[in-house]
Amino acid sequence: MSTAPTAQVADDFRALYGTEPDGVWAAPGRVNLIGEHTDYNDGFVMPFALPHSTVAAVARRTDGRLRLHSADLDAGVTELDLDTLAPGTDRDWTAYPAGVVWALREAGHPVTGADIHLASTVPTGAGLSSSAALEVVVALALSDLHALGIPRWKLARLCQRAENVYVGAPTGIMDQTASACCEAGHALFLDTRDLSTRQIPLDLAAEGLRLLVVDTRVRHTHSDGEYGKRRAGCEKGAALLGVDALRDIPYDGLDEALATLGDEAEVRRLVRHVVTEDQRVERVVALLEAGRTREIGPVLTEGHASLRDDFRVSCPELDTVVDTAVAAGALGARMTGGGFGGSAIVLAEATDTDLVTKAVEAAFAAAGFTAPRTFEAVPGEGARRVTR
Ligand code: GLA
Repeated sequence: MSTAPTAQVADDFRALYGTEPDGVWAAPGRVNLIGEHTDYNDGFVMPFALPHSTVAAVARRTDGRLRLHSADLDAGVTELDLDTLAPGTDRDWTAYPAGVVWALREAGHPVTGADIHLASTVPTGAGLSSSAALEVVVALALSDLHALGIPRWKLARLCQRAENVYVGAPTGIMDQTASACCEAGHALFLDTRDLSTRQIPLDLAAEGLRLLVVDTRVRHTHSDGEYGKRRAGCEKGAALLGVDALRDIPYDGLDEALATLGDEAEVRRLVRHVVTEDQRVERVVALLEAGRTREIGPVLTEGHASLRDDFRVSCPELDTVVDTAVAAGALGARMTGGGFGGSAIVLAEATDTDLVTKAVEAAFAAAGFTAPRTFEAVPGEGARRVTR
């Protein structure tokens, strides 16, 4: 099931807290079509929303208390005092919603408390932005219930701040913006420098195509060091090249930039990935807008090679999905999200998807990997209120 049933979440809220929720909200996870590790370099990304989402039944409180409960975990209600919320103090999943409340209040928004019950169908640790879905659903519900009228892009920024500062994971702005701003039937072309967006129609079925998400079941985490190391390496590259962010290196100035970096071999690789990846996003946008959808396949696969060889965030399972899918006739494939495990996407003719899925399963079995989980992704809706 891709969406947690709204009525069930509201019923569970009543049973848990003994009161009526003020409403129910939902926010989706995402896949990223192209543009990986570009968002903290002021670059381009193009995610779309999954039908999988996190649903929250919420009631406003006025006494400065925050109560949190998740249907997906075997844990009771966590109760927090808003005045004691501080970065680094909550160590479990509650850090995400608590961090959102902290970020809202820190930005001057008068949040007075809430009872929250959550249920999610976004797989966790699969590189599909379960954390962003959790943050955005809470932010949107609290913004609505406190009549804060915060624009979507700003909600995403506050959620990113919660994740960066309160949770302590140095992520970019892509996932939260995807969850907050995506529209059904579209991919979101986002310029992470100024947060301008363009909705790009993406109706793969109409063209006889399908996009598969293959969850390798290798779990990743962003608060561990590797993601932060890549980010720091990119910042070092920008500093050595005298630019604000790697986004500022023109595509035709890449060779010169790489030469300038001399024997900084690792930084050179990181810079090459980011600059070429930004260019790939622009190529994919142009191809989609020209109706040449099949031609994005090789660009996706090229992006994977760059993440594997230059950025070095892939893993054997992700490489197996990509290599096997392409060998079995897929148009293109790549890891999606931060990497080090998580999921890959595969673009294939609709008629080839069974064959491709079976080939990937067989390759995983032959390699002794845990069986992957595969599902088709169709661009779904962004965050929304589902009931009054
Ligand atoms: C994770 C982060 C994003 C982005 C991707 C890589 O999903 O949360 O901000 O950096 O990795 O593109």
